[in-house]
Amino acid sequence: MDVTVIGSCMTDLVSYVPRLPKPGETLHGTKFAIGFGGKGANQCIVAARLGAKTAMVAKVGDDTFGKDYIQNFKDNQVMIEHVEVTSAAGTGVAPICVNQEGQNSIVIVAGANLLLTEDNVRAAEAVVKETKIVVCQLEIPAQSTLAALKLAKKHNVRSIFNPAPAQSGLSDEFFSECHIFCANETEAEILTGLPVKDIEGACKATLALLDKGCSVVILTLGVMGSVFATQENRKPIHVAAQSVTAVDTTGAGDAFVGALAYYLSNSPSLTLQEIIQRSTEVAGVSVQSPGTQTSFPWKKDLPPKLFS
Ligand code: RIB
Ligand code: NA
Repeated sequence: MDVTVIGSCMTDLVSYVPRLPKPGETLHGTKFAIGFGGKGANQCIVAARLGAKTAMVAKVGDDTFGKDYIQNFKDNQVMIEHVEVTSAAGTGVAPICVNQEGQNSIVIVAGANLLLTEDNVRAAEAVVKETKIVVCQLEIPAQSTLAALKLAKKHNVRSIFNPAPAQSGLSDEFFSECHIFCANETEAEILTGLPVKDIEGACKATLALLDKGCSVVILTLGVMGSVFATQENRKPIHVAAQSVTAVDTTGAGDAFVGALAYYLSNSPSLTLQEIIQRSTEVAGVSVQSPGTQTSFPWKKDLPPKLFS
């Protein structure tokens, strides 16, 4: 296996609106769509579409959304031996509003995702052991995510930890157990208490996060690109993003993380800077069309230079 994702599946219920609603307000939307989402699955699907051999460790409900989700994994060639169906909760859902600028606000009702236990994670030990990259987020119980990071470390498997959605007061173990820590500006602000409004602020936050013990820190900054630093080279490096017209930015961060996992496992000879540059380009493609997984490209749709 190239990439194993231990994380969430959500059914995205997306309303396109002229602007995000205020408290107590009823708004007319212009369009509605149901799609496959959840940060974990999104990241897995991106890696799979780019060409990685992927496995998912997740939990869905015994309902239509769950059945459709399992079919979605099959359609994308994701190994589902460790995707369990539970009758104790419904499949996770995410009502999402997307405004005319392509910005979103998201509510998640995680349901079955919250029943993914540490034991479920450990049951996937044989897969984790034989994988090149493990990827985790925070849409399943935090303790299960931590168990996954520990399991990867135990087998010398590199892990990417994406602390999304942002959660304050995360134990320091999350930083010392993961190999690559990859967050966006909001998550970085919440976790460091530092402002991340510009490249300079991002560089400071990157170093503060690196001090917590992970080997690599990558901060994604939307249109500003990203900043990264490693324990070997503590001087933060800025990687710019190409300017594109955003239609729907939902899942762009997931496209970045999934691409990162793909390149780390499939193109080990590229420099980290080149890997981040290419992952930024894949994320840039995703914001130019609507939806979450519906906007994630396949290898065949991307410029060959991204795979040379
Ligand atoms: O990162 C985007 C994702 O966040 C959406 O697909 C939604 O399901 C939430 O998990
Ligand atoms: Na999109």
